[in-house]
Amino acid sequence: MDDNILLKIEGVVKTYPGVQALKGITTTIKQGEVRALVGENGAGKSTLIKCIMGVETPTEGKVEINCDGVWKSVKNAVEAKALGMHANYQNVNIAKNLSIAENYYLGRLPKTKLGTVDWTTMYEDSQKVIDKFQLGVNPTATIASLPVALQAMVTISKISVNENIRLVIFDEPTALLENDKVETLFHYIKELKQAGVSIIYISHRLEEIMEICDTVTIMKDGTYVETKDVAEVDKDYLISKMVGRDMADIYNIQRQNPGQELLRVENLSNSNFTDVNFSLHKGEILSFFGLVGAGRSEVMRAIFGVDKITAGKVYVKGKEVHYKSPKEAMIDGIGFLTEDRRTDGLALPQSVELNTNMYSYDMISKLGVIDLKKEKQRAEEYRTKIAVKTPSVKQCVNNLSGGNQQKVVIAKLLCRNPDILIFDEPTVGVDVGAKDEIFKIIETLTKQGKGVIIVSSYLPEAMGLADRMIVMAEGHIAGTFDNEQMKQVEEEDVLRIASTIYDSENVSAEVK
Ligand SMILES: Nc1ncnc2c1ncn2[C@@H]1O[C@H](COP(=O)(O)OP(=O)(O)OP(=O)(O)O)[C@@H](O)[C@H]1O
Ligand SMILES: [Mg+2]
Repeated sequence: MDDNILLKIEGVVKTYPGVQALKGITTTIKQGEVRALVGENGAGKSTLIKCIMGVETPTEGKVEINCDGVWKSVKNAVEAKALGMHANYQNVNIAKNLSIAENYYLGRLPKTKLGTVDWTTMYEDSQKVIDKFQLGVNPTATIASLPVALQAMVTISKISVNENIRLVIFDEPTALLENDKVETLFHYIKELKQAGVSIIYISHRLEEIMEICDTVTIMKDGTYVETKDVAEVDKDYLISKMVGRDMADIYNIQRQNPGQELLRVENLSNSNFTDVNFSLHKGEILSFFGLVGAGRSEVMRAIFGVDKITAGKVYVKGKEVHYKSPKEAMIDGIGFLTEDRRTDGLALPQSVELNTNMYSYDMISKLGVIDLKKEKQRAEEYRTKIAVKTPSVKQCVNNLSGGNQQKVVIAKLLCRNPDILIFDEPTVGVDVGAKDEIFKIIETLTKQGKGVIIVSSYLPEAMGLADRMIVMAEGHIAGTFDNEQMKQVEEEDVLRIASTIYDSENVSAEVK
């Protein structure tokens, strides 16, 4: 037996009704190795880690872990944990109504001598974890009160509370994180590696893989393609193996001349942001960049009628509006792809077909009767247009891979044919090929004279897509870049502006 090997994956096959998600995967992972798993949406990455963790039972084949010289196979999640195997799943999985501390110690609350919960120890220990991961929050804060990015960070930091860790799996951990938090995560991964822990790291951001991983396994359509040392490969190589074709610059968007004004926001404020001013024109892509808590999503939520506005005005196509609900905004021609897809975006137990049509049944119904032919037609149309990988449009959305669920949300939005589209983190968890498809769709939309707002924490995307860019920091607009400035701007400049500490006294002094 090779003592160095921690994990053996042998001929793993996983079949779901109508889908063969894994078609025989074999590989081994060494102790202290950081292994990347890459592949297009639906390639089988998440399914493989579920088989490793005992959450799913392989239809054929086996997975074994080396526990101090004894090979063991795991049958369920509890066993996996006892053997020191931990996974950070793709879809943030956390008890939202509990506090951070309670989440850390879920299932093993520390007890006092009297047998009651030892809150003092729990909060003190939690504070240490919070400090280590630089979360800057109070351990008593409930998860629901945190922005999704911080929720994701809590689930990551939660792993460190365990002892005797052997293997940690991260499935798209950075999808919702900003740059500084990604650094914290990478630091943690290096620390784990040094302690001899093996890591499996799944990400669609190939530059992260080049930075943090030792080896990379490429998967395609449920099959194992190959494993390479990261030092031997580059991004283009990985892309060509994953997608099966070379790809040009995905941000190469054909720019439109901006037309008439579609949206204008004047001195907009609520408890999350102050004095936000901007406008959006036909044919334009305006991106919003910022760090956690900068207030970008909150501004969009307020415009869309989700959150209250306490001061300022919103004009849509020249008319002042006061949306009391998202429905009113939608009817007025605004489409909003929210940041939190799992809870805001989809009816998970329902079909691709229903979800695609969900916002626009009124457009394919007469006297309350749905035109079933049109319903299917539209679902098929968008399935092809943005390449949703599913055996049929009748498939339940819950069973789609993470990236494909995301595409269904976009389809749902496009179905209403809105004039103004707001995409909050449009490509989270989406593979390079699909990203390209989504950007082509955005380009087509601008050609049709629509206005597009992109909120992105991924700087290459925020910069690459935008005609103009707004950078927010601490609830204020900290910088704007017009068409000309966009051509020269460097990433460092944007990051510096995004980390501006807003000093209200200074600003008011200037105004005086
Ligand atoms: N419970 C399920 N029932 C039916 N099909 C499933 C189920 N879970 C996954 N699948 C299918 O298995 C295939 C592999 O999905 P998986 O989630 O492993 O992909 P992935 O590589 O993680 O993709 P992504 O990058 O989009 O997260 C997909 O076609 C998916 O639709
Ligand atoms: Mg996945």
